[in-house]
Amino acid sequence: MTLLHLSYVSRLGPDTSMAELLDEIGHFRAKNLAAGISGCIAFEGDRIMQILEGPTASVNALFQTIRDDPRHVEVIELERKTIEAVSFRDWGMVRRPIADVVFLSQLT
Ligand SMILES: Cc1cc2nc3c(=O)[nH]c(=O)nc-3n(C[C@H](O)[C@H](O)[C@H](O)COP(=O)(O)O)c2cc1C
Repeated sequence: MTLLHLSYVSRLGPDTSMAELLDEIGHFRAKNLAAGISGCIAFEGDRIMQILEGPTASVNALFQTIRDDPRHVEVIELERKTIEAVSFRDWGMVRRPIADVVFLSQLT
């Protein structure tokens, strides 16, 4: 099984508030853990950055869903690479300051 690391940035959609998305993070975390996916997400102003790591097929499928989600726009894939091991095994999906997410994306 190959593992994929994928990062992207996007911008909050005009009809969505950051609070709405923050309310969903627990739901994202539970779904990601069930799918063997982990990562982290940052919100700053209307800017979003997220890292997803896990089995390649699962990360690709989730990213396709996320990319088409109208709650954010201008989704730009930053990096997609095969990794030996995931960095955030038990995290599911946690919120971090944007600088940490940029830093963590460079560690793997
Ligand atoms: C910025 C952003 C990040 C998201 N991150 C995740 C995520 O990590 N995991 C996840 O399952 N859904 C995530 N979603 C939501 C998905 O696009 C989709 O709405 C959700 O997976 C559908 O699941 P549900 O039918 O259980 O609500 C994200 C959405 C946005 C806008």
